[in-house]
Amino acid sequence: MPDLIYRPRRLRTHQALRDLVAESRLDRAMLVQPHFVVPGSGIAEPIQAMPGIEHQSVDRLLATARADLDLGIRALLLFGMPEERAKAPDGRAAWADDAVVVEAVRTLKHELGDQVVVMTDVCLCAYTDHGHCGAVLDGRIDNDASLPLLAQMALAHARAGADVVAPSDMMDGRVGAIREALDAAALESVAIMSYTAKYASSYYGPFREAAHSAPGFGDRRSHQMDARNRREAVLEAELDVEEGADILMVKPALAYLDVVADLRAAFPQPLAVYNVSGEYSMVKAAAARGWIDERAVVLENWHAFRRAGADIIITYHARQALAQGWL
Ligand code: PBG
Ligand code: ZN
Repeated sequence: MPDLIYRPRRLRTHQALRDLVAESRLDRAMLVQPHFVVPGSGIAEPIQAMPGIEHQSVDRLLATARADLDLGIRALLLFGMPEERAKAPDGRAAWADDAVVVEAVRTLKHELGDQVVVMTDVCLCAYTDHGHCGAVLDGRIDNDASLPLLAQMALAHARAGADVVAPSDMMDGRVGAIREALDAAALESVAIMSYTAKYASSYYGPFREAAHSAPGFGDRRSHQMDARNRREAVLEAELDVEEGADILMVKPALAYLDVVADLRAAFPQPLAVYNVSGEYSMVKAAAARGWIDERAVVLENWHAFRRAGADIIITYHARQALAQGWL
């Protein structure tokens, strides 16, 4: 037996001791539950590829948000889906006064006030008839023509009372354009959570089916980041911070933890990870077959996000985790 002076196993002896020295902890205050809002009333339709997640009309969303609040979920991220026939080349239904997200924000803030943080996704892809995230000119997604449209959408959400607007389009300069529009409308206290490092990812598959936002032609590689790039995320973050982003985000989460660690090290801003639809569906599918222990895998993933440096976890598992007492 060698003469060991240090034995790491000493601190792993039993649970209370392990808990005492744990480096990362989870807290329900860091969780954000995403929602898909649809027109109509009394609607709560399960989304096939995302078990446990539904398309909900505003009335049902409010009931869900109340129940979630009782569980300790105090932040939600809204995605809206217009009527199919309201889709247009410029995505104008995105900033209509009767847009479902606008109505949802109004209702949630009116009924629940500052007990909840209401965040809204800002992107045109669910609202354009071509399914792209910006304006299309001559068959290409035009960056600068998209900015005023995105700013109008963010403005509509902010006017309705959103606490945080979250641009996910990945156009260059959108954070600055949105910040400027908000400030000009005396909405300087509305925060921006930027999808800073949003990668062109195949993990968005279930979401695009849920949001009916798959592009009609081409893909999103001309604006979302290339999965091969790591340093470029730091550049994106520098630009976002310069333009006034309050919260930075990395998306997807699991396959991009190096990027999370990089941004944590380089920027003091709060950092969010988006544990996206495909990541959720994979866990769900394996758990349904009894191939993994769902609770254990979800908590392991969440601790990985914390270890890498994330402050905020956007996850479809939030409600289930709290309802089943995982935290
Ligand atoms: C819209 C948007 C997407 C997601 C969030 N906002 C899809 C996409 O970019 O194609 C993905 C969310 C998820 O997969 O859970 N731009
Ligand atoms: Zn989009």
